[in-house]
Amino acid sequence: MTQSCYVTTPIYYVNGAPHIGHAYTSIAADAMARFKRLDGYDVLFLTGTDEHGQKVEQAAAAAGVDPQTFTDRISSDFKAMSDAMGVSYDDWIRTTEARHKRSCAELWRRIAANGDFYLGHYEGWYAVRDEAFYDEAELTLRPDGSRVAPSGAAVEWVKEPSYFFRLSAWQQRLLDFYEANPEFIAPRSRRNEVVSFVRGGLLDLSVSRTTFNWGIPVPDAPGHVMYVWLDALQNYVSACGFPDPGAPRWRYWPADVHFVGKDIIRFHAVYWPAFLMAAGLALPKRVSSNGWWLMDGEKMSKSLGNVVEPRKLADIFGLDQLRYFLLREKPFGADGSLSHAAIITRINVDLANDLGNLAQRSLSLVARNCGGVLPARGALTEDDAALLASADALLGVVRGHFDQQTFHDGLEEVWKVVRAANGYIDRQAPWALNRTDKARMGVVLRVLVDTLRVVATLLQPVMPGSMGRMLDQLGVAEDARGFASLGVALTEGQSLPAPQGVFPRYVEPAA
Ligand code: ME8
Ligand code: MG
Repeated sequence: MTQSCYVTTPIYYVNGAPHIGHAYTSIAADAMARFKRLDGYDVLFLTGTDEHGQKVEQAAAAAGVDPQTFTDRISSDFKAMSDAMGVSYDDWIRTTEARHKRSCAELWRRIAANGDFYLGHYEGWYAVRDEAFYDEAELTLRPDGSRVAPSGAAVEWVKEPSYFFRLSAWQQRLLDFYEANPEFIAPRSRRNEVVSFVRGGLLDLSVSRTTFNWGIPVPDAPGHVMYVWLDALQNYVSACGFPDPGAPRWRYWPADVHFVGKDIIRFHAVYWPAFLMAAGLALPKRVSSNGWWLMDGEKMSKSLGNVVEPRKLADIFGLDQLRYFLLREKPFGADGSLSHAAIITRINVDLANDLGNLAQRSLSLVARNCGGVLPARGALTEDDAALLASADALLGVVRGHFDQQTFHDGLEEVWKVVRAANGYIDRQAPWALNRTDKARMGVVLRVLVDTLRVVATLLQPVMPGSMGRMLDQLGVAEDARGFASLGVALTEGQSLPAPQGVFPRYVEPAA
């Protein structure tokens, strides 16, 4: 039976337009989902929008429209952005959908049946921007007497009747779970933060609100809507058909990886497993968090308004070039700066020069000197065998990195082979062999084609469009682009299409 793999992105708040930060998490999750599909898994890749809560209600009011009209509009903006970024989601979930409301109501009933909710009164700090409750001790007092959350968000004093979740009762079971599942939170630095946060003691969590009504009603509790994070997290389970035990999608739960930004680790790595345990549901295998793309040293955010529109960058630089840059430029968990200069360097050095030229040089020699026909392998020298061995080893190496979301290291490993192939072509000089030893020239070009084929196959998850074109030129049939096909030799003697450059150099347009 094919193994299943369930990958998710955060569901984004529909309080403003999508920006490159959202695109980034979705592209990373997409690269993972595509990788797994090509590696033979039965994949469910979920994304969508988080549409309830005060933040969205306020944004709708500011726009002068009712919340549902507003969320319809912004959700479709996010969907259009995801489509434009090549995000190959299998399902787009919206928390205002009936399937999700039904799923949340059942989650609530199960947690209640387990005795983990009680009715009380919340009095404390709340940040609408983060949709999060904060302890006094977590806040910073500013000279003007106002308080801000660690995220920089303003907080307000909230006082209302509320249901509470007995989070405090789950402290030890959470710690035991982290201990037994060291891979649950990535990267490691985030894991340590979560463990010390939980060790520090957990307060019961307010999970219903009564001072506004843009949310999912709490079953049998008029006036209460569910806390937006309880509602939002449940999306991952709703999409699997919960609570229908016979739902065909139920085979995907628990999720293999929840991709999240580091701002929402606590919700995913503390509250979420506690809710699931209380409801008697299986826990996700991994929560992997990305760092920030910064603009002028500050986190880009809808609330701050200092954002870069992903479609603009893709128009200027090309979609695959942008996707490559985002995954190659910084470690997934770390922060990094986004600048045109850095993107241009990646395009011109890694893509145009290292990879694009290698393919163009190799394939134009096949076109010119081999009649456009794929040469046979023939007897291999040590130099040939060494390059092919490094290419053959690449799948295992890159798989290991994608499984850990260390995309930049995985891509660096691919580029080691690309650089080795550039060294090889210079040493072997197949253009000179055309006059002296045509048979040997054929072998060298075939070694290069075979190496490029591995490289292009493995880069498909990151650059699907350009690698598809490169595989066309290498004579790899469309149904032979999965990783299992790497074990099957290309058919020698087949005609290859005329080579065309895949990665043009980026030249700054004249001002
Ligand atoms: O938090 N750099 O939604 P959200 C990198 N609805 N990633 C960034 C980023 C940046 N500058 N800015 C945002 C929510 N992100 C909740 C999630 S899930 C059940 C509910 C990414 O619209 C990053 O993944 O505020 C972050 O966690 C997410 O967008 C937050 O999106
Ligand atoms: Mg946010």
